[in-house]
Amino acid sequence: QSRKLFSYNIVLIGFMGAGKSTVSEYLSAMFAMDVVEMDQEIVAREEMSIPDIFDTYGEEYFRNLETKLLIEMQERKNTIVSCGGGAALRAENVKEMKKNGRVVLLTAHPETILERVKDSEDRPLLNGNKNVEFIDNLMESRREKYEAAADIVVHTDKKDINTICEEIIQKL
Ligand code: S3P
Repeated sequence: QSRKLFSYNIVLIGFMGAGKSTVSEYLSAMFAMDVVEMDQEIVAREEMSIPDIFDTYGEEYFRNLETKLLIEMQERKNTIVSCGGGAALRAENVKEMKKNGRVVLLTAHPETILERVKDSEDRPLLNGNKNVEFIDNLMESRREKYEAAADIVVHTDKKDINTICEEIIQKL
């Protein structure tokens, strides 16, 4: 384990299944960083699953919780903030991400994404839509916003986790 201490946070963004959670775990083990999984934190605080929050209060409510959490995270440093796949779609959220530190966009091809998410049931936007066409379309509609939010972009297709994390660290 390296002793590197970051004076800022690393914010991970990207589509569902791009590898944000896996990268968070690995980076935190490499550098003794804290991790905040935004989705998990929201689920814990609301005492509800993501699909239940969406069903009960709607997407807008959920996005507001994301904004609040991103503001709170600015009090910390040396923390990996792993965002839900939609967090970077709001300009307001992106502004708060930038105040946290460096924003890292993880990408993967739709085929890879499908492979990674096909057994997951806690992604309401993909329920009943687990096919390459749907993923491709949603991804394309988000691409510009993801790219505009990112300081760094790392492609994750066909790379092992160590290679991905090395690449992130090099580019930071
Ligand atoms: C979402 C992605 C999910 C979760 C919610 C909405 C999105 O997070 O926040 O289902 O809009 O892309 P993951 O990217 O961790 O799956």
